[in-house]
Amino acid sequence: MKRCISILSLLLAFVASSSFANPIAFGPYVQNMTDDQATVCWTTYKTSVDISSEKGTETKRLYDQHEITFSRLEADTEYHYDVLKDGTDFGKGSFRTFKEGIAPFKFVVYGDTRSDHNIHRKIVELSEKEDPRLVINSGDLVSSGTNIHDWEKFFEINREFMKTRPYYPVLGNHEKNADYYFDFFSLPGNERYYEFYVGDVLFLMLDSEGSRFTMPEYAQNTDKFWGNYWTPYFIKQKEWVQEMLTRHRDAGYIFVFFHSPIISIKETRVEDAKIRRKFWGDIFEKNNVSAVISGHDHHYHRYEADGVPMITSGGGGAGLYDGDPKFAPGESILYKKVNHFITVDVGLKEATLKAIDVEGNEIETFSIPRRKTDYKPSAK
Ligand SMILES: [Fe+2]
Repeated sequence: MKRCISILSLLLAFVASSSFANPIAFGPYVQNMTDDQATVCWTTYKTSVDISSEKGTETKRLYDQHEITFSRLEADTEYHYDVLKDGTDFGKGSFRTFKEGIAPFKFVVYGDTRSDHNIHRKIVELSEKEDPRLVINSGDLVSSGTNIHDWEKFFEINREFMKTRPYYPVLGNHEKNADYYFDFFSLPGNERYYEFYVGDVLFLMLDSEGSRFTMPEYAQNTDKFWGNYWTPYFIKQKEWVQEMLTRHRDAGYIFVFFHSPIISIKETRVEDAKIRRKFWGDIFEKNNVSAVISGHDHHYHRYEADGVPMITSGGGGAGLYDGDPKFAPGESILYKKVNHFITVDVGLKEATLKAIDVEGNEIETFSIPRRKTDYKPSAK
């Protein structure tokens, strides 16, 4: 009997593993890059179950998540990896570590990739041609963070792009604080808000969402719910932001990212954004932040708040929104209702930001100067 069970187990194991030609579901993909370290993640199929009714059959899958960190690497060096070593190309990828010290590099930004997969795919293809060293998503990566099928599509679209460069997201309201987000991404710190560096460039990746999406008032009408940011969670986050800005006051550039903008020109969100602006106060201005980039409003909008350059970049795939610059008089600079992404060429004297639409046409280009290295936060 024991022998029969063993054979049966072997047969079952064979059926389960042979049902996936490629054992890798998502990835491999790169996370947490520095000039001497990188993490490679990948997700394998554990098993799948079909559930059928008269309306059809749906397949549910279970996954195992893996990650491995390579340390003591050489700076600006190309490394090849193979997480499967099974003779196929499924587990293969490569990355180049960041350069050591201060050096020019390029990154791309886009967000709200969630619902139109064709637009998302086009944005990824155009971004890939720019050959950025890293990718930032300004939130709402998927339509529903709790729906595994949305993540399956996300990783399918990004399969090649994420093999070769780190992908840094911020939490959007559509991520819904789901475990999948934290399982799939390997991010610094608490993963909800975190910092990373490239040379002397500081990236602050913040959480503008908290847990408000779980509140009944929010679920009933997301556009009419005006959040309360004076909660222990957001106050603690703001204290951490100030601590980072003080510690890195000599940074050459400081780029801040969070999903929901502090100025909205979408009529139903104007008041909600004002609350966020009041909460953050003058923290970006007094610490001489280079630029703040958000998403959430599905269009391109460049504006300036208290002298700080800001962009709402939510044109990565979700349905486009109307905006009206009259809601930000004297602050709105350019609004375009268009799917797009942004390239940022970080140079030794200035960073050049270029907004590009989904057809590859330039929307606008502008520059931000390198911060003065002797910068002191103002006392006000
Ligand atoms: Fe959003």
